[in-house]
Amino acid sequence: MDCDTGFDDALAMIVVSRATDYHLVGISTVVGNTSLENTTANTLAVVEAFGIEAPVYRGAAKPLAQDPQTIEDLLGGAAMGTVGRAFPPAARRTVEPLDAISALVRALEAGPLTILGTGPLTNIAMALNLRPDLADRVERLVFMGGSATTGNHTAAAEFNTFADPESLDAVLRSGIPIEMFGLNVTRQVPIRTAEEDALRASGQPHAALLADHVGFYLRMIDKVTPRPMALHDPTAAAYLAWPQLFELQDVRMAVELHGTHTRGETVCEFRVPRKGQPNARAAVCADGEEVMRRVLDVLLGARWA
Ligand code: BDR
Ligand code: CA
Repeated sequence: MDCDTGFDDALAMIVVSRATDYHLVGISTVVGNTSLENTTANTLAVVEAFGIEAPVYRGAAKPLAQDPQTIEDLLGGAAMGTVGRAFPPAARRTVEPLDAISALVRALEAGPLTILGTGPLTNIAMALNLRPDLADRVERLVFMGGSATTGNHTAAAEFNTFADPESLDAVLRSGIPIEMFGLNVTRQVPIRTAEEDALRASGQPHAALLADHVGFYLRMIDKVTPRPMALHDPTAAAYLAWPQLFELQDVRMAVELHGTHTRGETVCEFRVPRKGQPNARAAVCADGEEVMRRVLDVLLGARWA
């Protein structure tokens, strides 16, 4: 798993480790929601709190071709905003000495890998740029990012693809199998005060902590175009656990690198193969209420380490 933790990345991490059959071989961190220092510290705090054993590797501190575009102002503090308690900093878990790109290369050398990306794709692009021969070891990259409709960070672009468009471009060119969970599908998975209330009502300390973070997360609802808050990163993780709850379609995907107003936009051509050869699959439909119900069940049962 490659992430820019971030509260919703944290939830995705819990879902992957508790609800899927995958063996989580490693977690790599990247600059995105906040600085690399913060995403790494947040990741260590989450793995320690929830007893997630996978080693944590520090990745890229800068996107491939631009300055970092962090959003702490939106996400609160070090991108782990809360209306009450905060995750305690990790006291025992520490980052691995090996960097994330070398760790990813080493893992691919060892055998095939499914990668879940919930942040900008910088680490993955760097690993594949370094070792293009390992592309065929990637079984698939499931990533939360992009949109087949409108953006969130800008009118056109979703945050993860806006934060490092060149990395998505490199990953698309690498030829690895890609499954995109963009805003068009994460917006079908709403999280509401009912979920915050259910976590709080469980009486479990870990659930109360998560509820405090959900409370903050819900405050990010788009005030201009009000709609329920979308469960972004955990939706991609939920696909690894319950693929039957989703529908994907073949697409020809490109990412806009130059547009004055559209940099970072994912342009998805669904009329394949007539208008182009497919190079990715895009999630288009989710049974959103059921995804949220199952994610909530996982969170309620996750407990402290
Ligand atoms: C994505 O951007 C980040 O803020 C979230 O963690 C998620 O990965 C949603 O656009
Ligand atoms: Ca993220």
